[in-house]
Amino acid sequence: MKPIKITETVLRDAHQSLAATRMSTQQMLPKLELFDQAGYFALEMWGGATFDSALRFLNEDPWDRLRTIRKVVKNTKLMMLLRGQNILGYKHYPDDVVREFVRLSVKNGIDIIRVFDALNDLRNVKVSMEATKEYGAHSQGSISYTTSPVHNVDLYVNLALELQKMGADSLCIKDMSGLLLPYEGEKLVKAIKAEVDLPLEVHSHMTSGLADMLYIKCIEAGADIVDTALAPFAMGTSQPPTESLVMTLQGTPYDTQMDMEVLLELGSYFRQLKNQFVEDKTISPLVLGVDIQALWYQVPGGMLSNLVSQMNIQNTLEKLPEVLEEIPKVRKELGYPPLVTPTSQLVGAQAVINVMGATRYSMIPTEVRNYVKGMYGRPPAPIDEDIKKLVLGNEEAITVRPADLLEPALPRLKEELGDYYRTQEDLLSYALFPQVALNYFKNRP
Ligand code: CO
Repeated sequence: MKPIKITETVLRDAHQSLAATRMSTQQMLPKLELFDQAGYFALEMWGGATFDSALRFLNEDPWDRLRTIRKVVKNTKLMMLLRGQNILGYKHYPDDVVREFVRLSVKNGIDIIRVFDALNDLRNVKVSMEATKEYGAHSQGSISYTTSPVHNVDLYVNLALELQKMGADSLCIKDMSGLLLPYEGEKLVKAIKAEVDLPLEVHSHMTSGLADMLYIKCIEAGADIVDTALAPFAMGTSQPPTESLVMTLQGTPYDTQMDMEVLLELGSYFRQLKNQFVEDKTISPLVLGVDIQALWYQVPGGMLSNLVSQMNIQNTLEKLPEVLEEIPKVRKELGYPPLVTPTSQLVGAQAVINVMGATRYSMIPTEVRNYVKGMYGRPPAPIDEDIKKLVLGNEEAITVRPADLLEPALPRLKEELGDYYRTQEDLLSYALFPQVALNYFKNRP
């Protein structure tokens, strides 16, 4: 018997992927205590885009959400997604900010921190993984999965071995765009399990219609944990449905032992909420189907739903197919970064400019410039020489860890925040999203 463990994503990735991260704490509250009775391994409920979205769109303090959920969900582990040196933002932060953010996340209730770097540059996850251990939480080292001429099983096994050396308590194959083919997943899980004796979690998305098949092959190959979403918030650019996997594994050696009745009750609550999001157009039907093209343009769930909502506002949605075709070209020119925040944003922004502008690269956003300068770390493959020249001129890109160039920032930030400072948590909100946090502080009672 090897019961498979399940991490539920409905409170984080599922609504980030389908509903532009707009689920509020109030909307989560009514059935929260039921999560504890279902038999989940963990509840992914914080991090990723939820922090930004809470402050920016929902007029909520993200730290309050964490504390509120922790108060009600007493036994199930709470998991968050952390972008290494990017924390939950879109740039690199100094080490003192990263360490303090991790400390407060654990203090406010997080049990497991899943850390990743968009470029798999492990220098960028070192400080957050160390801090996670130091403050007593479970450190999950994550591999950002992508396909390209330079990515292969050996490269991923090496990353897994490195993460183990860095003290990871478990590993995650993070297939944020649903690119991992089921039989490739089987090979990858077997190869990692043969070399690394750590629990292995598989995270994927249904975008291209593969993730449920993938999970079965990975489970048979030795994966220990998989990420799913309650049925109403499953499928499309989100995860495979929790209930379907639980039923599939029932009576097999992989039986999850989860309580189906509890899952059904949770499901009927979240179905109403989903219907609300569909009615008010927060959920676009565009993100609900199977998009087989995604295998080629590699857009992660959250990025597609954001791109669609942005282009909708700008009335340029008819150009979406062209932008999606442009994305792999830009990605190749930038050295095949896996597409996940923040690389997905900067590749997406450049692709939109290339399609809308008179010529490609007629404008280059600051983020893309910084990327080419090495300010996000080491790209998997060399960057196109012409683009390098366009951005750098005669300068050289940096080769050190980007955060090595950053001075400690907390004392300065505290001074800047002045009278708005109430708690150390406020300071971290401000460090990550200065303008957005300030607006929130100005309007709170
Ligand atoms: Co995801």
